[in-house]
Amino acid sequence: MDADRRIAAVEEVPEDGTLLVTLRPTDPDAVDDGEGDVGADEDGTPEAEAIITRAAGKVAAFRNYCQHWTDVRLDKDDGAFVRNGEVFCQKHGATFEADSGYCNFGPCEGATLESVGVAVDGDGVYLDDDAYEFVRLGPATRDGDGSGSRIDFTGS
Ligand code: FES
Repeated sequence: MDADRRIAAVEEVPEDGTLLVTLRPTDPDAVDDGEGDVGADEDGTPEAEAIITRAAGKVAAFRNYCQHWTDVRLDKDDGAFVRNGEVFCQKHGATFEADSGYCNFGPCEGATLESVGVAVDGDGVYLDDDAYEFVRLGPATRDGDGSGSRIDFTGS
């Protein structure tokens, strides 16, 4: 695997949360500003986020926006809530299977999170998706806090 595409050690991906990373789409037109995880660097180049999950030993990655309201991020910089192998959206309580991204409960039941290709090689997790380049761990660059103005279950 190309060292430039190494995201993290497998052990750094929590089983009770998500690891947030910033990616750069290879096609800037492939991302939609309406997706809550899209930002832009200081040059205006679009960035997007992915959440890395680890459930029952399987590592997977998905774009960091809900399938119900796509402007809502699942991981708001401190890890999405994950329990029993399911990622929760704090806005309206949808649950997504952490290994497949399939929504098995909630207002977007039957939808699937947008997948980002990752692969495990040795003890590392690597980006394995030609649609993106790995930029860094942590959130995309954006104005404001990126969480939008809508109130969620946590009141934030
Ligand atoms: S925005 Fe995620 S469940 Fe409604």
